[in-house]
Amino acid sequence: MLRSPPAADLTALKSIVGPAGSLESAGDVEPYLVDFRKLYHGKSPLVLLPSSTQQVSKILAYCNEQGIGVVPHAGNTSYCGGPVPDESGTQVVLAMRRLNKVRSVEPLNYSMTVEAGVVLAAVQEAAERADRLFPLSLGSEGSCQIGGNLSTNAGGTAVLRYGMARELVLGLEVVLADGRVLDSLRTLRKDNTGYDLKALFLGSEGTLGVITAACLKLFPKPVAFATAMVAVPDVTAAVALLASLRAASGDRVTTFELIPRIGIELTTRHIAGVTDPLDKAYAWYVLAELTSARAADDLNGTLESALAGAMDQGQALDAVIATSLAQRDALWRIRETIPEAQTHHGASIKHDVSVPVAALPEFVAKASAWVAKNVPDARLVAYGHVGDGNLHFNLSQPAGVTAESFMARRAEIQRAIYDIALAMRGSFSAEHGIGRYKVDELEHYRSAVELDVMRAMKHALDPKGILNPGKVLRG
Ligand code: MLT
Ligand code: ZN
Repeated sequence: MLRSPPAADLTALKSIVGPAGSLESAGDVEPYLVDFRKLYHGKSPLVLLPSSTQQVSKILAYCNEQGIGVVPHAGNTSYCGGPVPDESGTQVVLAMRRLNKVRSVEPLNYSMTVEAGVVLAAVQEAAERADRLFPLSLGSEGSCQIGGNLSTNAGGTAVLRYGMARELVLGLEVVLADGRVLDSLRTLRKDNTGYDLKALFLGSEGTLGVITAACLKLFPKPVAFATAMVAVPDVTAAVALLASLRAASGDRVTTFELIPRIGIELTTRHIAGVTDPLDKAYAWYVLAELTSARAADDLNGTLESALAGAMDQGQALDAVIATSLAQRDALWRIRETIPEAQTHHGASIKHDVSVPVAALPEFVAKASAWVAKNVPDARLVAYGHVGDGNLHFNLSQPAGVTAESFMARRAEIQRAIYDIALAMRGSFSAEHGIGRYKVDELEHYRSAVELDVMRAMKHALDPKGILNPGKVLRG
């Protein structure tokens, strides 16, 4: 049973991190209590800002001993309420932003070692300075932190080529619930020595341990790019185009993102500087990008001839290929600002689903038909990562309906959409994780055996349940 820490505990915890290492006034603590989507507003007496692994270790040892909950907090960009405490007041926040050193970059080894609080964009920049690429890339990269990315197994727009965060890790340093430091901070490509311990912590959202540092995989830095916005007749054509583009380019497709017409309308209306990419309006678009580390690769030529072939076969209707960096940025901006543009369009019932890539057309057809029948006035904003079989199949608030009455149907609508994805052996959370928001869904959709194993892992690593209580698994 966790308890609200009395003043003596708070004093002891503050002494571990020193005068600059904690926040206590209501105004200072407030930003750590509200999640990115403002779904939750928690309570906590103290935010701790450790500046070393040793301090994290001491904090966890103390909290474990005293039965105080600890909520790891990185850039607070989660869509599922993972990094904020609940309303009980029994949890302190462990904000990682002062653990922000790039410990080393090893270009010959194609690896780097960074602390958990380094902002993702700074990780990318450090790799780039060494003429390397750290490929994890997402809309919030200017503020999210690598520790959060790894503990939530973030996805983004380059997964098709490089994999999710989990696949980009060679080694981890993790502080366990009892304060012991698990040092698997190795940059080995091969280490076949028993259980893959680091895998436990990637995607477990701070419920099994706190990641304090990571060895990351690097890649050759791309120097050639070809980027196009392609109008396609439907999702079936988008999936076929992806398959032919992968073959035609020798698998150089890094990004392949689906955008519906409403995505163009919302961004051109609500985001300054965004313009319609093509002369005519089309039902669906794809943002496709090829990249190569070889400057001599004629990617524009490859893309152009592949698109010409696709047009002959009816897989593409029209396209614009970026001829400058500014035009490339403008095309990317359309895709990247859809989530923001959607917020100007009222409340949104979001779904982060995945199905096998080839099954995407069937999913979209079935889920759209369900929406047309059951929520006929809702506006569908379905966009996302076709190359990963991952769609953000979102419903925007209908005109003339209040946000409250629309959101009152959230559970019913989400269950129906998830059922359609799951019936196709898909997932109800492709890249956004579980946090607090999808705990019910996890219980509903994962099997009894899967849940048993998850609970056994939680019990083994955090028997007192101090780590991010109530996230992923019910507390
Ligand atoms: C994205 O792909 O833009 C992000 O996952 C955010 C979202 O789901 O809207
Ligand atoms: Zn996404």
